Amino acid sequence: MSHRIYYFSGTGNSLWVARKMQESFPEAELIPITKDLPIELEEAESQTKPDTIGLVFPVYMMKPPHIIMNFAQKLPNADYVYAIATCGQNSGNTLTVLKNSLLNRGITLSAGYVIPLVTSFVFLPNTKSQKGVEKVFKKAEAKTQTIAVNIKNRALHFDKDTPKIIQKPISFLLFNHAHRIIPTLDKHFKVNSSCVSCGICRDVCPVQNITLDAQKPVFHHQCEMCFSCINWCPEKAINWTAVTKRHRRYHCKDISKEDVIAKRYFRLKKE
Ligand SMILES: Cc1cc2nc3c(=O)[nH]c(=O)nc-3n(C[C@H](O)[C@H](O)[C@H](O)COP(=O)(O)O)c2cc1C
Ligand code: SF4
Ligand code: SF4
Repeated sequence: MSHRIYYFSGTGNSLWVARKMQESFPEAELIPITKDLPIELEEAESQTKPDTIGLVFPVYMMKPPHIIMNFAQKLPNADYVYAIATCGQNSGNTLTVLKNSLLNRGITLSAGYVIPLVTSFVFLPNTKSQKGVEKVFKKAEAKTQTIAVNIKNRALHFDKDTPKIIQKPISFLLFNHAHRIIPTLDKHFKVNSSCVSCGICRDVCPVQNITLDAQKPVFHHQCEMCFSCINWCPEKAINWTAVTKRHRRYHCKDISKEDVIAKRYFRLKKE
């Protein structure tokens, strides 16, 4: 039995879920999805074919992130493929979009789950109290255990999409357009004078979209809109419009920036 869990995570929620899944499946290999992964995927695929593949990732604007949609084009087939999407509140039609995309390649997504956690979308920020956050994670932990049992039983299960009556107006007014311009949305990121040139934003970026130029971050318009840089900056020096200046930053309580960076360097080292 071989089991691979591929994950993409900006602020650590999806990494937290991926780790919970690995607790239930200690034999599973945890693999971060970064820009250069498809090449390694091809290498890995030629060696062993896993019989179980899990994909764990956040919902962005009611859909899977672009990097996940691209990754889905390279994913090897397996006997049982499942997806877990973490989100703030509304997963939109994320699972259906991914399922259809995989189906076009002849891959059946056998199961899909949504785990609501805390939002990383700093534009509409997390307003939960510490107690509220703890409650959400407790519920999520119970759900990961249910999901693990389902996976062991090869269950065919899909959590429901957000009802269309909620999904459609938001997507129409906001998200459909935003999805088209995601890679260049970073041109609206502004770095203020609080920046201490620590380089954390560069290091946590999952797609190497940031360099430091004259000690200040520069964004290269290959953005995934994960908001890692904004959320992990210790000085709150990066903002996306004036709105985010007032908003709290967020990252998962059990995941450190070192966890996120270490995983990414693992990939970078191979270049
Ligand atoms: C650009 C962006 C868009 C988002 N859109 C949604 C959304 O449509 N619905 C939702 O419930 N959460 C949304 N979120 C929140 C994330 O899905 C959620 O916080 C997720 O658990 C973050 O996972 P991560 O910590 O692994 O990056 C969004 C976050 C970002 C950064
Ligand atoms: S993380 Fe913040 S303080 Fe550090 S280099 Fe980036 S913007 Fe500057
Ligand atoms: S630039 Fe910031 S928001 Fe864009 S992918 Fe990198 S860390 Fe994420």
